[in-house]
Amino acid sequence: MWFLPGLPAGQGNILMGSQWGADKYYKKSVSEGYRSRAAYKLRDIQNRFNIIRNDDNVIDLGAAPGSWMQVLRELTEGEIVGIDLNPIASIEGTRTITGDFTTDVVQEKVRAMLHEVNVVVCDASPKLSGQKSYDQARAVALSEEALFFAIKVLKPGGNFAVKSFQGEMFNELLELARENFYSVKVYRSRAARRGSSEAYIIAKNFKGTTHVA
Ligand SMILES: C[S@@+](CC[C@H](N)C(=O)[O-])C[C@H]1O[C@@H](n2cnc3c(N)ncnc32)[C@H](O)[C@@H]1O
Repeated sequence: MWFLPGLPAGQGNILMGSQWGADKYYKKSVSEGYRSRAAYKLRDIQNRFNIIRNDDNVIDLGAAPGSWMQVLRELTEGEIVGIDLNPIASIEGTRTITGDFTTDVVQEKVRAMLHEVNVVVCDASPKLSGQKSYDQARAVALSEEALFFAIKVLKPGGNFAVKSFQGEMFNELLELARENFYSVKVYRSRAARRGSSEAYIIAKNFKGTTHVA
């Protein structure tokens, strides 16, 4: 079993025998000091779509254990706020909120922390029950909540990337993104697990006029 230094129990690469197994992205994340292999998904997204500029303020939804925040710290000198139900061990130069991003209380905290939000990223996943169609529906509903969050806080022209799962309701989510952003693409990262229906919606250039069906 492996532990990354500086992380509380239950967070980070406590792998071998985890859901990921010791694959090449896991090994890379350990050697490069990232808290999880998910880091490479955000790096892939950024390399391909350039959603974050070097002075952007960014909110990371579903951020624990914090590997996306580590990548964000490399990409921008702007403010970074990570939000998760679970506490996130501190990362220099970033701030965190422990709570549910779908709630008003957390959304108000964000408004008090940042005067301007340029980018929202979301890698949140609900706890899985093992029942495929139920889990798929909850995962897409959470992605939709992230979209609602983004259109409440983003400044016009801002960017948004969210994890979701292709299947039922995915096209409706895509349509809602298209109503609110000028450019919307679907992307499957090379770091996704084989056989998974995980896909990221990359939405650029927020229209600024909110459309919620
Ligand atoms: C796959 S992990 C994120 C990994 C993270 N991107 C990283 O690179 O370290 C998914 C996270 O979503 C969080 N999550 C799920 N629903 C949430 C909600 N409503 N509000 C905040 N966090 C949530 C979970 O607690 C979990 O930590």
